[in-house]
Amino acid sequence: MLHRPAAIGAAFIDVWQWSLDVPAGVLPELVSAMSDAEFARAARFVRERDRLRFIAGRGRLRAILGGYLGVPAKRLAFAYNAFGKPRLAGSGEPPVHFNLSHSDGIAVLAVSDHYQIGVDIERVAPFREDLAGHFFSAAERRALHLVPLRAYLDAFYRCWTRKEAFVKAHGAGLSLPLDSFDVSIGATGEPRLKRLEGMPDAPEQWRLLNLTVPRGFVGAVAALTAGNPVTLRYRRDEPSPAWRPGVSVAGPVIRMRYGRGRGQDAEGRS
Ligand SMILES: CC(C)(COP(=O)(O)OP(=O)(O)OC[C@H]1O[C@@H](n2cnc3c(N)ncnc32)[C@H](O)[C@@H]1OP(=O)(O)O)[C@@H](O)C(=O)NCCC(=O)NCCS
Repeated sequence: MLHRPAAIGAAFIDVWQWSLDVPAGVLPELVSAMSDAEFARAARFVRERDRLRFIAGRGRLRAILGGYLGVPAKRLAFAYNAFGKPRLAGSGEPPVHFNLSHSDGIAVLAVSDHYQIGVDIERVAPFREDLAGHFFSAAERRALHLVPLRAYLDAFYRCWTRKEAFVKAHGAGLSLPLDSFDVSIGATGEPRLKRLEGMPDAPEQWRLLNLTVPRGFVGAVAALTAGNPVTLRYRRDEPSPAWRPGVSVAGPVIRMRYGRGRGQDAEGRS
């Protein structure tokens, strides 16, 4: 049974950020908190770095959520909606809502005990394809067209992360057509959901917020607050400096081979 969660409240969304490149020493603890399905998923990553980053993401996600609920990380169980969005398993409204995003070695987790939420972080990187033409709505493309060239990349990623955070909060995944809603793309003022097809009051119901992220990244949070004002509250009580985004940890190459009580190796073989 889940305990009563540590309160966050209606006025806040908690935000946690950490580096996914962790020292070898913490991996066994993270692995031991994972479910068999997560362990199997970790084993399916082809690249070692991706596998270790997945473990660092899931393990820390479990530890943080367990902290809110007052239960050991290992005891948490996740369920998934039809589009893959994870939530805490159980009947009725979950005690906390959460959403995770990761990009290039950094993880961001948003947690709320009131609102359905989504989060997205992206590393700003140049590209050649017409991504805006492919993913953005006509109104967003028009707004982007007015942005001076030197500011284009940041504006593009603001739009992308706001859209992605909204899609993730909404829960319908990419079954929600990306041209069925518009977000603001400006750098100043509070970001906004400007339109959602078929839901004229959506801009009042939803809030978008800029994430403060390390240099070279852009991030956003979306929450269905039904008009309540809400502020991001950055949580920084990491267990060790190695968790901090931007801190790269030098160390030996880590091979996954942890005892799981059943003599499994890295690939989950017995
Ligand atoms: C899967 C998706 C939810 C996010 O993909 P992403 O940007 O590659 O990944 P992020 O790092 O932001 O988020 C991944 C995490 O979100 C969560 N997640 C997975 N499916 C989700 C869904 N349908 N809704 C919300 N959250 C979801 C999981 O915790 C996942 O973490 P895990 O991979 O460690 O299990 C989905 O939106 C997607 O495939 N996007 C592709 C990109 C795209 O077309 N974006 C258009 C924006 S304009």
